[in-house]
Amino acid sequence: MCGIVGFTGSQEAAPILLDGLKKLEYRGYDSAGIAVVDGAQINLSKVTGRIAGLCEKTQDGRAVPGVTGIGHTRWATHGAPSDTNAHPHLSNDGRFAVVHNGIIENYMSLREELTARGYRFESQTDTEVIVHLLEMYYAGDVRKAVIRTSARLRGSYALGVVCADAPDRLYVAREASPLIVGVGVGENFFASDVTALVAHTRSAIYLDDGEFAEISPEEICVFDVAGRPVQKKISRITWDIQAAEKSGYEHFMLKEIMEQPRAVKATIEPRIHGREIRLDDADWTAEDLKKIRSVVITACGSAYYAGCAGRYAIEQLLRIPVHVELASELRYADPIIDDATLVIVLSQSGETADTIAALRECQRRGAKALAIVNVVGSTIAKIADWVLYTWAGPEIAVATTKGYTTQVCLLYLFALYAAKRLGRIDDKQYNSLLDTVLSLPKLIQKTLDMNPGIPKLAAQYHSHEAVFFIGRNTDCAVCLEGALKLKEISYLHAEAYAAGELKHGTIALIDEHRLVVALCCNEKLMEKTMSNILEVKARGAEVLAVTFRENSKIVSLADEMVYVPKVPAILSAAVEIIPLQLFAYYVAKENGCDIDKPKNLAKSVTVE
Ligand code: G6P
Repeated sequence: MCGIVGFTGSQEAAPILLDGLKKLEYRGYDSAGIAVVDGAQINLSKVTGRIAGLCEKTQDGRAVPGVTGIGHTRWATHGAPSDTNAHPHLSNDGRFAVVHNGIIENYMSLREELTARGYRFESQTDTEVIVHLLEMYYAGDVRKAVIRTSARLRGSYALGVVCADAPDRLYVAREASPLIVGVGVGENFFASDVTALVAHTRSAIYLDDGEFAEISPEEICVFDVAGRPVQKKISRITWDIQAAEKSGYEHFMLKEIMEQPRAVKATIEPRIHGREIRLDDADWTAEDLKKIRSVVITACGSAYYAGCAGRYAIEQLLRIPVHVELASELRYADPIIDDATLVIVLSQSGETADTIAALRECQRRGAKALAIVNVVGSTIAKIADWVLYTWAGPEIAVATTKGYTTQVCLLYLFALYAAKRLGRIDDKQYNSLLDTVLSLPKLIQKTLDMNPGIPKLAAQYHSHEAVFFIGRNTDCAVCLEGALKLKEISYLHAEAYAAGELKHGTIALIDEHRLVVALCCNEKLMEKTMSNILEVKARGAEVLAVTFRENSKIVSLADEMVYVPKVPAILSAAVEIIPLQLFAYYVAKENGCDIDKPKNLAKSVTVE
């Protein structure tokens, strides 16, 4: 979850590290630090809190001289956020400094062993064992010390190491945590995420698990656990700098909400040729598809809710059972999965620990997996049997928006593609649904344009004690994501309920202090949801209805209306979610919340 960065070259390292950390801050932001090698000594600076505090403390890096260094922005796992628990960690002899992203599972026994050998621990972190192991194993060759240290570690790690005896070198190691080496001219970099690299270089080497690298300004040597050189391909980073900047928006989240028409277009259009859908990497034959008896979609957070929304299109068009499972549950559920199951894994980052584990568990049981991922070269993209990239561009705000909509849209495309190949859809229905899919970018833009009143609604409702989102079927799936968006960035208590389920308990909580957001976009079930609106109104709740203009009956029932264009229910989530994202954003703004970096959350959850 943390962000790590490293630089070696002829420029001062600290300003470059701080700049990289600002780009990575969305990965963790409770404390931060840098270590820069200056001659034969390592200078360290750490703060509790944001990177801005570290910039202040180091006078924008000027107070930490040297041309080789490492940096870290932390999301605490072991030990509270504090200056001592912040990375980098130093060895007792001051020779090594380490930054680490991941979790060392056997750190307790290593800590006992190292303490018994006389090593002094300063922090409560799991990471600190690494730096003492390095000191213990060092006998003049840093590479060997890094390899021997890694051999003692269980868990996940992306490590960045500097050593005072090798002042122009960075050492890195990767096991189940992302690590990318940035290739420059007379200078080189590493980072946990390409966003920290794009300002400097577009050339990158993606390390694989079990690989190490020694990086100097002139050379990058990748090697394996036996110290043997590994030949690596240099890949081109296609994300541009602007995509990782706010471009005049107050928050990344608002920028990313507004980018959705473009992001969805990038997801959909290149895959439609004439009237044919081509799913690049996933070149199934009709025979392959016929073997599929069930589909399991697994993911975490909003990606899981994207699965809940996309499920309807697959189930209704293919008439194959679709189960949507939380990855953190599926991995331990002894799931009934075999080679007749298609597993679809959704992940914006491609690095979510539980999703990776669930994917591996399903593959172990014989299933083949299709990954729908945004980050190119990420772990999930590498492990899955097929990968479809969402091509949404970098998503920086912790709360996903375009990540979610593009995932949903790829599920729509998959459903239509498979239904067509299996002959389960007639031409008329296929063409009509394909037209809708093709017009989703425009429909999303229209939804953004037709809702200028949402900031006013947010001002009206931001102090309600709780918000309940209700809807049925496809609407219910969107409620799940709408409630999550609101709670994660505004900290209001928000819950999603199947509208028909309210009477079985939750209605006891409804009174005049609650807001009910009612989604009425599924035409077949609208009348039913409208009855539920009457029930909550009768108990004093305020009702904000989301529907399409043609639904005039609802106007007299709800207190406030939000409109979306009319879209066939199985394809409506990508449109319906838009006003809920805006509502969450503006409520959070009203409440003065740190929208892009909500408390306690991290963008990429790389620990279990
Ligand atoms: C975190 C993020 C969410 C995201 C979830 C899954 O909780 O804050 O926005 O939906 O992780 O992440 P993934 O990268 O696998 O989509």
